[in-house]
Amino acid sequence: MINELSSAEPVPEGISGPAPIAGPWRPPRVLAVANQKGGVGKTTTAINLGTALAAIGEQVLIIDLDPQGNASTGLGIDRRSRRYSTYDVLIGEAALRDAVVETAVPRLHLAPSTMDLSGLELEIGQARDRAYRLRNALAPLNAATSGAVNFTYVLVDCPPSLNLLTVNAMAAAHAILVPLQCEFFALEGLSQLLKTVEQVREQLNPDLTIHGVVLTMYDSRNNLSGQVVADVREFMGSKVYDTIIPRNVRVSEAPSYGKPVLVYDLKCSGSEAYLRLATEIIQREKELCAG
Ligand SMILES: Nc1ncnc2c1ncn2[C@@H]1O[C@H](COP(=O)(O)OP(=O)(O)OP(=O)(O)O)[C@@H](O)[C@H]1O
Ligand SMILES: [Mg+2]
Repeated sequence: MINELSSAEPVPEGISGPAPIAGPWRPPRVLAVANQKGGVGKTTTAINLGTALAAIGEQVLIIDLDPQGNASTGLGIDRRSRRYSTYDVLIGEAALRDAVVETAVPRLHLAPSTMDLSGLELEIGQARDRAYRLRNALAPLNAATSGAVNFTYVLVDCPPSLNLLTVNAMAAAHAILVPLQCEFFALEGLSQLLKTVEQVREQLNPDLTIHGVVLTMYDSRNNLSGQVVADVREFMGSKVYDTIIPRNVRVSEAPSYGKPVLVYDLKCSGSEAYLRLATEIIQREKELCAG
C-alpha cells in the first residue's frame, strides 16, 4: 500500500540539512535515464540517484516521462496532487514549472506523469516540433529565475521503449545514463539503444553523449553477475561507472512506501551504492564539462 508522505514526516539525517551556500548560477544538466528494456532499474535509478544528488546539495528535478508513473508513485506523489502532468506539458497546455511538485526530500522535485502520456504519440505525432517538446519545455530553466528553484540536475525517467517519449528525452538531454541489469541478456538491446542515440545525435541533438552505464541488481552470490560485469566492461569500457548497484531487498521495498530507499533505509547497501554513484556522476560531469 502506498504510504502518502506528508512534508512534515522526518527525513533521516544525511538527507535533510540546510541547503548549501549557492555557488554561481549554472543551467541544469539534463540526463536521460534510458533503456528500452523493461525492469532494468531506470526508475529506481532516477529516484535514488536524484535523492542522492539532492542529499549532497544539488537542486534536482525528476521528470516522469513514463505513462506507468512509477517515479511519481515511488516518490509518494498520489494522483490527486498531480495537478498538471508531463502530458499537459508536452501537449503545450502547461508550463513545466506548473507541473513541478515538491517531494518529501529537500531539494528534490518531480514533474509527475499520468496514463494520458500513452496517447501522446497519436496526438502530436504529426507536429513538426514533436521531438523537441521536452527540450522546449525545459528551455525556461536555462535562465536564472529569482523566487523559483534553480535546478542543477534534471533526470528524465524514460519508458521501456524507443518511442517518441524517449526520443524527446534524448533530444532534450546533454547525456544518457543507461541502467543495465546484471542478468544473462544484459547486452541484448544495447546496440539498438546505441544506434538510436547515434540517430538522435545526427538528426536532433548533435551534442548528445553517453554519460555512462550503471550496472544494477548485482548479486554477488550469483556467478553470472560477475560474468555480466566483465562482459559489459569489455564492451563499453570506461563508460561503465565503477559503482555497481547491488540487488538489495530494501531497494525494492521502498517504492511501496512512496519513499526513495535513501529515506527508507539510509544505511542499506542500496542506499550506499546510490550515494557513491552520485559522487561518481558529479566527478564525471566535471570531466565532461571541462572537456
Ligand atoms: N538494486 C535493486 N535491488 C532490488 N530490486 C531492485 C533493484 N533495482 C530495481 N529493483 C526492482 O526491480 C524492479 C524494476 O525496477 P525499475 O522499476 O526501477 O525498472 P525500470 O527499468 O524503471 O522498469 P520499466 O522498464 O517498467 O520502467 C522493481 O520492482 C524494483 O523495485
Ligand atoms: Mg520505470
